[in-house]
Amino acid sequence: MTLTDEEERDFWEIIEPIASDPRTQEMKKYIQHSHVSTYDHCMDVARHCFYFVRHHELKVDEKALVRAAFLHDYYLYDWHTHGDKLHGYHHADIAKANAKRDFDINILESEIINSHMWPLNLTRVPKTREALLLCAVDKFCSARETLMKYGLFKDKDPT
Ligand SMILES: [Fe+2]
Ligand SMILES: [Fe+2]
Repeated sequence: MTLTDEEERDFWEIIEPIASDPRTQEMKKYIQHSHVSTYDHCMDVARHCFYFVRHHELKVDEKALVRAAFLHDYYLYDWHTHGDKLHGYHHADIAKANAKRDFDINILESEIINSHMWPLNLTRVPKTREALLLCAVDKFCSARETLMKYGLFKDKDPT
């Protein structure tokens, strides 16, 4: 998956204010899957969402989708050692609360983050195209990162 120079510029215009913030930079300290940090996972998901929107000309709120994609796992700890066996069920609420507190997310962005763990969070069915896309892209990126550990995917970027 490669963005053109123009796409790269547009992507960074949206994401830079939150991705360069010292608070989200903290996500670099924690592992999400295999050796991939939470920051890199969130960035990868945001880039893939942006790519799909641009390359399939999807009618979505691009800015809200990219922001929510970057913040969808915005929690500052290693979930493997956090001591919450049900973290998969809980962390969408934690990320949403952190994103609200630090970046004043709007209702759509909140809803996108809220439903990203569906169908694990069974009742939180994605209700918008943006939420559905993030839900699918997150699973794809997560599976790819997990499989990297077994050498089934090369490190970045087979798509
Ligand atoms: Fe998540
Ligand atoms: Fe995720």
